[in-house]
Amino acid sequence: MKLYIGIDLGTSAVKLLLMDEKGRIKKIVSKEYPIFFPQPGWSEQNPEDWYAQTMAGLKELLADCDRSKVAGLSFGGQMHGLVILDEEDQVIRPAILWNDGRTTEECDYLNETIGRKKLSACTANISFTGFTAPKILWVRNKEPENFARIKKIMLPKDYLAYKLTGVHCTDVSDASGMLIFDVKNRCWSEEMLQICGIRREQLAKVYESYETVGTLLPETAAKLGLSAKVKVAAGAGDNAAAAVGTGTVGEGMCNISLGTSGTIFISSEKFGVDPHNALHAFAHSDGHYHLMGCMLSAASCNKWWMEDILQTSDYGAEQALIGELGENHVYFLPYLMGERSPHNDPNARGCFIGMTMDTTRADLTQAVLEGVAFALRDSLEVAKSLGIKISRTKICGGGAKSPLWKKIIANVMNLKVDVIESEEGPAMGGAMLAAVACGEYESVADAAAKIVKIVDTVEPEPALAAKYEERYARFKAIYPTCRTLFPNL
Ligand code: XUL
Repeated sequence: MKLYIGIDLGTSAVKLLLMDEKGRIKKIVSKEYPIFFPQPGWSEQNPEDWYAQTMAGLKELLADCDRSKVAGLSFGGQMHGLVILDEEDQVIRPAILWNDGRTTEECDYLNETIGRKKLSACTANISFTGFTAPKILWVRNKEPENFARIKKIMLPKDYLAYKLTGVHCTDVSDASGMLIFDVKNRCWSEEMLQICGIRREQLAKVYESYETVGTLLPETAAKLGLSAKVKVAAGAGDNAAAAVGTGTVGEGMCNISLGTSGTIFISSEKFGVDPHNALHAFAHSDGHYHLMGCMLSAASCNKWWMEDILQTSDYGAEQALIGELGENHVYFLPYLMGERSPHNDPNARGCFIGMTMDTTRADLTQAVLEGVAFALRDSLEVAKSLGIKISRTKICGGGAKSPLWKKIIANVMNLKVDVIESEEGPAMGGAMLAAVACGEYESVADAAAKIVKIVDTVEPEPALAAKYEERYARFKAIYPTCRTLFPNL
């Protein structure tokens, strides 16, 4: 028997998953770390916290297994975050995360002065505030003393790989979200490096997600009781890793992730770009490509509503109060951190609208779940407008634990929702990429075909889907009406 470890470096916690060579999950451990919002719309974490909690989690994960059987490990990681190290390999400043909105000026510079056309030609994408290139420019403009000290630029999961192996590496899927990567040709874009004032040697070597980058450093292996021969594979951005974990590989497959962010991910064997760049065009971890829409606050809206506002951790009890679907007169805009796809508006804010004297607590809870589903539908509509035909999707992430939310998603989006054995998409995908790197499977597609099992399908119900169709039309009208108010709030 062989064992593989998948590490999902998420925004609220790192999840570690132990899988055997047949893809059977043996154990899952989760370790939280803080997130800091130093100013409204800013979002940071300490890379040292990621590493400390990953090591603590690995020790717990491996506590009662035969460690000599561990052959490989790999990652899924929150994308776009900027981690910068100095000459001594010390972190220069806290990581600026994917949902940070501070780079409006830098985005305007990239999109307007450099120009969307040029960005799209070089990278297949335009600038969004959460992407890495505008963050690098922000450090250059606002913290020149830090910028001058940068020896290495890396993405969140690549910091873990660096600490574990000593290799400065990244993978094609995560590099795609930096806006300095030529997605089509799977290499750094020299033009973008010049535009951002980056030297080639500050950047990592790029691997395919399923390639081995190295082995554990001997002292790290000893701390974990593992062999120093354990292979470490490059891994993927969390969405591409989740796609592997749910079998969303090859042509025309779809996955929805209901994590802190909400994403709709469409895999493709061919490179293709949304002409309006509303959907991201990235390299996939299966060796091909994908399109993706990303909303910044998905399950995090529900967490905020449950834990911060209703002050409960019993999500199930709150959802049990919800009666008939399709009748709610309250709407919720889920833009608690601004919004990326498709509005690209860091100033957008959350709001409830449509309350009356008979509105209940359950109506508001329902509106939050529905608001996230409507916002995901916005990205699905963009995909449909490109002629992409989707009739079913996989689903993963913490929100996918809720049967009610899955039913709402199926009916709001009018898609069949295939439920996988485990909703641990990115951690599972990470472990599968490690297994491919170790030669256990011929390819990512082969691993997905043999490991991923669909255990249930939530079908849309025609009458309910029709009611949600009407409600979606109302939802769609709210943001354009509120948009001009947001910057002054
Ligand atoms: C994708 C994105 C998010 C993060 C969340 O573009 O920004 O999904 O990867 O971890």
